[in-house]
Amino acid sequence: MKHLLKLGDLSSEEIIGLLNLADQLKYELKNGIEHHVLKGKTLGMIFTKSSTRTRVSFETGMYQLGGHPLFLSGNDLQIGRGEPIKDTARVMSRYLDGIMIRTFDQSDVEELAEYGSIPIINGLTDYCHPCQVLADLMTIREYKGHFDGLKFCFIGDGNNMANSLIVGCLKVGMSVSIACPDDYQPAEDVLEFAKSYGDKFFMTNKPLEAAKNADIVYTDVWTSMGQEEETAKRAKAFEGYQINAELMALTNEGCIVQHCLPAHRGEEITEDVLEAHAKEIFDEAENRLHAQKAVMVELMKDK
Ligand code: CP
Ligand code: NVA
Repeated sequence: MKHLLKLGDLSSEEIIGLLNLADQLKYELKNGIEHHVLKGKTLGMIFTKSSTRTRVSFETGMYQLGGHPLFLSGNDLQIGRGEPIKDTARVMSRYLDGIMIRTFDQSDVEELAEYGSIPIINGLTDYCHPCQVLADLMTIREYKGHFDGLKFCFIGDGNNMANSLIVGCLKVGMSVSIACPDDYQPAEDVLEFAKSYGDKFFMTNKPLEAAKNADIVYTDVWTSMGQEEETAKRAKAFEGYQINAELMALTNEGCIVQHCLPAHRGEEITEDVLEAHAKEIFDEAENRLHAQKAVMVELMKDK
């Protein structure tokens, strides 16, 4: 593994390996066992979109690993004034040991990796959010103990989260059901990938149908970063795509609820469902820290 650009690039074994390392790092942190395995290394963190969890968990994680995190706002970098990604990649490779980037176009992340000579980590693009899904999978395994035979259900926008969840959940052996409005489906290449899993993948535009007998129900905002002007149109298109008590009643006993956060209560999820499942949802947020530390160790140690 040289980069984390999207989950499709990783084998099932590589994903499980990262989850195992994340579990170990979490255990060590909770038991006061120091793990300064990235001592002397610097991670540049480029953000051209807002963030709470990604920024704070990467920054804290790098510190816990003995390294140095550097927050770089897209507006303050020369990228914001038009300096090409390929030049930025080559310059930053001379100073840093790794880059985490959150931005709009997946092609910008791929270009950084192509022209740079250091590991690149995708901290969210319009296409995918692999770091989030590693934390989600880690949390599912914590709660359920395994992936085999579990039914994972995503309700809502076929966006970056849906794209990464479909790939990640299928790769670790779960079956996946998705409910999205017809005009808001996941990316075509992701659907193509999912089709190769036969009846382990199911897509519908009926949320209640997708949620039946689910072991994990997941949702995300209806309007992602960069789509703010579509808010009203989306609110209409996603009517009925809410995780609420009626939908939860159809799921398997012990079904967990996940949300990458931030959540919009009363839209994609009700206040009562979110609060009833707050333990799982905030464990999931915590696991961003542990999962991303595993990614940084895997990519940046001994490099
Ligand atoms: N889930 C997630 O990536 O959160 P932030 O946007 O706060 O980083
Ligand atoms: N789909 C959301 C995820 C936020 C973590 C967005 O891109 O804004």
